[in-house]
Amino acid sequence: MRILFLGDVIGRPGRTVATRRIPLLRQEYKIDWVIANGENLAAGIGITLDKAEEMFRGGVDVLTSGNHVWKKKEFVDYLSRHDDETRILRPANYPDAAPGHGSAVYTVGSEQLGILNLQGRIFMEPIDCPFQVGRRHVQEMRARGVKIIFVDFHAEATSEKKAMGHFLDGQISVIVGTHTHVQTADEEVLAGGTAYITDAGMVGVARSVIGVEIAPILERFLTQVPVKFEVPTSGEVLLCGVMVEIDSSGRALNIQRIQERHPYQGTGR
Ligand SMILES: [Fe+2]
Ligand SMILES: [Fe+2]
Repeated sequence: MRILFLGDVIGRPGRTVATRRIPLLRQEYKIDWVIANGENLAAGIGITLDKAEEMFRGGVDVLTSGNHVWKKKEFVDYLSRHDDETRILRPANYPDAAPGHGSAVYTVGSEQLGILNLQGRIFMEPIDCPFQVGRRHVQEMRARGVKIIFVDFHAEATSEKKAMGHFLDGQISVIVGTHTHVQTADEEVLAGGTAYITDAGMVGVARSVIGVEIAPILERFLTQVPVKFEVPTSGEVLLCGVMVEIDSSGRALNIQRIQERHPYQGTGR
């Protein structure tokens, strides 16, 4: 099975370039399944259903997320009302009372694919332990006979992501980090056969501070006064992610980093 994963897709520039490129990448690399992190789809912060649908129409099969998944109340309400919604996952280690699902199993051709979303705790909300919750979800999926398991670990600290990679190595097929929006160059297949990268990067405007306009961020750092973050409306877009090839036993055969630059001239955020 070949999986394409795109890091945090940011606002309209990210959505536009991602949905333009996915069909071509799908063809070129014979991709079976496309996953993207969608926590920044809506004007850079949060998800709305219409933006998620735009991504599904554009070729994404499943959206993972992270700490910003709760930013739009209408979307949290949607998750509460639709317990059968498994196309969009939220980190599994939020309390069980939170709406949405943290993992699900999908049918891809003749194979089963398990996808699990986790969130780190270093410099982030003090939610449940991602290691314990992650192990439980992985064990449950493996007990159901699911051999191919993909994990998006949405975390700030490199050490926490590296540790999780080694913790789950041999139990899952792939673990990608998200949330920092800056791609790392440490992709590898670990000793137990799990493909790993500390951060997949983003799909967003390159000349920015992790996908949003530079000036307001600078003002915030200089004054410590909260400001509204805006997604740039034009500029070159970085499209970052990985492609992973996995055998039917669930072992990763290789992981390849993608980092492309595409022109973007838009009107909205
Ligand atoms: Fe993000
Ligand atoms: Fe995040």
